[in-house]
Amino acid sequence: MKRRQIVAGNWKMNLNFQEGRDLASEIIRMIKPSNTLTVLCPPFVHLNHLSVLANGISNLEIGAQNCHQSSSGAFTGEVSAEMIKSVGANFVIIGHSERREYFNEDDELLAKKVDAVLANDLQPIFCCGEKLDVREAESHEALVQSQIEKGLFHLDSEAFAKVVIAYEPVWAIGTGRTASPEQAQEMHHFIRSLIAKKYGKSIASATSILYGGSCKPDNAVEIFSQPDVDGGLIGGAALKAKDFISILQSFPENL
Ligand code: 13P
Repeated sequence: MKRRQIVAGNWKMNLNFQEGRDLASEIIRMIKPSNTLTVLCPPFVHLNHLSVLANGISNLEIGAQNCHQSSSGAFTGEVSAEMIKSVGANFVIIGHSERREYFNEDDELLAKKVDAVLANDLQPIFCCGEKLDVREAESHEALVQSQIEKGLFHLDSEAFAKVVIAYEPVWAIGTGRTASPEQAQEMHHFIRSLIAKKYGKSIASATSILYGGSCKPDNAVEIFSQPDVDGGLIGGAALKAKDFISILQSFPENL
């Protein structure tokens, strides 16, 4: 089965309502029909409006950046997966390194969030990736393996088939320092082999694995040309329509 090419924009905590509406409208104006799925992941306040804007545009979906693990209740300030689904979004980023680092989200909690996302017919974009000291100690594969096993491997095959994985080496996020195409390929291949061992080759080869970390128009072509890289999770460059569109067009067959 051919897996899906995906480019997702993680806007993080940027852009007020008007700015977000303008950026999404510009992206929609510039987007060309292709097989690549584009996912815009803005802050919660944009979700409803962007879902309306994206309605009827093929291969464009909207996603959230986080959700609470419970379905409802006295959790002031939180947003549930069901609420996200109700405004027309179809994806949720789970386990971004900024959530792990600044909001103390651990593997056990992330496994529950993945369950909440899937229970509401949303797709998780599950993030994994090592910090610099871990890479320097050459423990990056062991760390990513543990993040994936603890966050995802409780799922049955049917549920796992809905998961998108994003490998984001923390040392490459917002630093201007990207993983080399070889480093990305090596880790993506490793992740796919873990999935194959647990769920079989066919599910492994159908799983989209995205790269994230200082992905820009000038390096996306090389990164996306790697056989196990199925697209990107884009931070800074997703805030500029031109750059984001150029990244979207960086798959070998679109050049
Ligand atoms: P940058 O592209 O800004 O490095 O951010 C990557 C990221 O964290 C996407 O989720």
